Amino acid sequence: MRIRVLGSSAGGGFPQWNCNCLNCDGLRRGTINAKARTQSSIAVSANGSDWLLINASPDILTQIQANPELQPARATRDSGIAAVLLMDAQIDHVTGLLMLRERQSPLPLLATPEVLSDIAEGFPITRILSHYCGVAPIALRAEGQFMPVPGLPEIAISPVLLSSKPPPYSPFRECPRPGDNMGILIENPASGQRAFYAPGLGEMTPALLDLMAQCAVVLVDGTFWTEDEMQRLGFSAKGARQIGHLPQSGPQGMIEQLDALPSSVRKILIHINNTNPILREDSDERAVLTAHGIEVAFDGMDITF
Ligand code: MLT
Ligand code: MN
Ligand code: ZN
Repeated sequence: MRIRVLGSSAGGGFPQWNCNCLNCDGLRRGTINAKARTQSSIAVSANGSDWLLINASPDILTQIQANPELQPARATRDSGIAAVLLMDAQIDHVTGLLMLRERQSPLPLLATPEVLSDIAEGFPITRILSHYCGVAPIALRAEGQFMPVPGLPEIAISPVLLSSKPPPYSPFRECPRPGDNMGILIENPASGQRAFYAPGLGEMTPALLDLMAQCAVVLVDGTFWTEDEMQRLGFSAKGARQIGHLPQSGPQGMIEQLDALPSSVRKILIHINNTNPILREDSDERAVLTAHGIEVAFDGMDITF
């Protein structure tokens, strides 16, 4: 089973169009050691030509061009993307659906009922798409069991509901429901090996750590280094946890949490905000991650399990 990281950055991408923080400005000027990153998405395949797209990033067309495996060219109109699975209804995870409108049959779309309702109403992408290819929605419920992905029988998934935040446009932004955000366990039925992906993770629980301890690899929320990262820069009045992202540093932060996992688990941070110092490959913060055995995802990263 292969995971290809299509976009490793949080909403806004890196560099972000209107941002002149140390990282964004430094990347444009070539004065820092960092790689540009597109917005949040991964693709999973068992056979290398049929893929489950997890999240549909606003950068999807660039991502497809950068990853030719997603276009196997078996017919005059074709795509390797067999189905799309959404982790939440955030703009950085759903806007790319509009770019898939030329598809010739309804797009199989897996998400929780909460996410499906946000993208039918608050940000009515699926209503708009009904005038193009349309979607074939598959409502996911977290039942603690693995199910095969329709059309991709060699990939098994099990949704895990998470505590984070629905998007700012959602009527439920300040009263999150289970199902507004999820992580996904992906199992290779041939080997029984698992991966866990959760780009938006606001709070760790013992049950979640247990699930993660049984995985070969975890790809988890790497948005912010500190709780007050956006506040200190004057970019937001809210702290990291308040917008649904557990910061890496500090007490109970992501580093401390990941330290509790067995050393057999490969630990990778993903969905990295452009303000995060870990993007600078020679930063002290990156060195701390390395010392804890934690990797930082980049666009084009390939993970096998
Ligand atoms: C988030 O996860 O909080 C987002 O990256 C926000 C966004 O897309 O604007
Ligand atoms: Mn996001
Ligand atoms: Zn920036």
